[in-house]
Amino acid sequence: MEMRIPLSAPDITEVDIEAVVSVLRTPRLSIGPRMVEFEEAVAEAAGVPYGVAVSSGTAGLHLCLCALGIGEGDEVILPSFTFIAAGNAVLYQRAKPVFVDIEGISLTLDLGRIEEKITPRTRAIIVVHTFGHPADMDPIMRVARKHGVAVIEDACEAIGAQYRGRSVGGIGDCGVFGFYPNKPITTGEGGMVVTRDAHLAETMRALRNQGRRAGDGWLEHSLLGYNYRLSEINCALGVAQMKRISEILEAREAVAMRYASQLQAISEVIVPPLKIEGGRLCWFVFVVRLAARFTRADRDFICDYLTARGIGCGRYFAPQHLQPLYAAYVNAREDLAVTEQVADRTLALPFFNRLSDEQISEVCQCLREALRTRTAGRRGDVLASPIGVDRR
Ligand SMILES: Cc1ncc(COP(=O)(O)O)c(C=O)c1O
Repeated sequence: MEMRIPLSAPDITEVDIEAVVSVLRTPRLSIGPRMVEFEEAVAEAAGVPYGVAVSSGTAGLHLCLCALGIGEGDEVILPSFTFIAAGNAVLYQRAKPVFVDIEGISLTLDLGRIEEKITPRTRAIIVVHTFGHPADMDPIMRVARKHGVAVIEDACEAIGAQYRGRSVGGIGDCGVFGFYPNKPITTGEGGMVVTRDAHLAETMRALRNQGRRAGDGWLEHSLLGYNYRLSEINCALGVAQMKRISEILEAREAVAMRYASQLQAISEVIVPPLKIEGGRLCWFVFVVRLAARFTRADRDFICDYLTARGIGCGRYFAPQHLQPLYAAYVNAREDLAVTEQVADRTLALPFFNRLSDEQISEVCQCLREALRTRTAGRRGDVLASPIGVDRR
């Protein structure tokens, strides 16, 4: 269903279009100068020497695990409260995902719960900068180093975010950005791994290109690789978008602040943290949370109400450990209580660079109406089913 106010919308200028079209006028549509330029631009933004362009963020996460040599019998720590890609990348390698709960404000890994999950089989921690909020990297790096465990930053939602003066993605052993159309910087489809480790970068370059190492011919394959290349067409768009990254991040921040000021008046809604000490948020999405007395059914009602009125919204995120695919990997659901509570009450509102003040007002007005309608509908059966009790 086409939304009047979509959940997300890419910001494509005439300059971006011309950059893409200009590639089509050349014979070089893959592995060419635009890829090199794009890799340099993203690596520079992340403050590291190497960028490896790939066909998606998921492919990037997979390559990190492959290049680190993670395989069958290994364990990888990650949050359950994230997009499915991270857990899937672990499964591609026949390794075991070990889910750790999140902390209830930043919605990133709960620092106090990581070390207890480390075993002699743990090989990596995937740290997700959820919704563009930097995870607290210093203590995570300390725990990882203490146990000789690698750190992969899933920065797919966080390009441009800063943690204590450093760009996210460039802090761990490797980091991954995503460029799907809902992301602040898009290439249509695409991703980028960044790292300061020359060997990892070289291995990932071979792996994305059917296992051809530098110097191998087209029909020589040193490694079991993949076709995870990103075309020149995508990279040209990425280069053009990266030139506007500051402007894009500022526009998104301004939209977030306008939402926050309008939502202050709605007591049932909790807005996300608006700033981070010593760092910078990347406004990927605007995810609000309903107050603790609301249930998943309430959230779903509100989401359906907005959708029926042409306002896009998302239920971010469905916890990975509750997906049927992951049933075999979960033995202690009570460990993931915050994840489950948060996931039941989150609601992503329309969010993109050019969201107008009028549209923001309309979304907030509709949200108010939805809450009023739900609360009124509940009054009649309040004794039989009090708000706050989830009747799943
Ligand atoms: C946190 C996170 N990780 C990984 C991905 C996967 O990226 P892609 O869709 O480019 O494969 C996404 C995508 O939206 C994401 O939000």
